[in-house]
Amino acid sequence: MLVRIPNVLSAEDVARFRHILEQQSWVDGKVTAGEQSAKAKYNLQIPQDSDAARQLGEHILQALGRNPIFHSAALPLRVYPPLFNRYDAGMQFDMHVDNAIRPVPGTGFRLRTDVSSTLFLSDPDEYDGGELVIQDTYGQQSVKLPAGDMVVYPSTSLHAVSPVTRGSRWASFFWTQSMIREDTQRALLYQFDQSIMETRKALPDDHPAVLGLTATYHNLLRQWAEL
Ligand code: NI
Repeated sequence: MLVRIPNVLSAEDVARFRHILEQQSWVDGKVTAGEQSAKAKYNLQIPQDSDAARQLGEHILQALGRNPIFHSAALPLRVYPPLFNRYDAGMQFDMHVDNAIRPVPGTGFRLRTDVSSTLFLSDPDEYDGGELVIQDTYGQQSVKLPAGDMVVYPSTSLHAVSPVTRGSRWASFFWTQSMIREDTQRALLYQFDQSIMETRKALPDDHPAVLGLTATYHNLLRQWAEL
């Protein structure tokens, strides 16, 4: 299941992010790639331990903390500190799957990558190519969103970034360990939550249908969640 989350960052935020990122020294993106994906990866990143990465990453995590769609779709347990990459003309990332387990830098924790997120920091008219191509259960999806918008998708998916042929594509990306490991269960809970919200628009909050559906959602979450 792919979910688009609009306006995670405002236009002002995006402009500030871009201004800070322009001043960074960019390094070869192979530094955070696994063995198979390093061979497929041609892009640039800013160092994970730089002040800019930490500061901007923290801003994204705060924005996600207030975002109901992210909570409903990802059911996050732990979020990896956001990374930042760019693809200039001629750069691409061929089909690969991300590492399943990642040590979280500066902590003793490891994180299981259940949900992948890409937050676009360039507008579609700033570059050609550069689509995020995801192999979903319904076939191949091609994603290119306005700056400030984000897509979340299961980390189990094969995915690629198609070659950029003009301009430059900037983004933040990171992984989430979800309380719900299984994509199919997570998708069911997301759809269930959407339906509850629709029902609440049509009926008063104390209506037995709203109470019953809400109770069942929480009881399913209680049964499936791992903390
Ligand atoms: Ni990847």
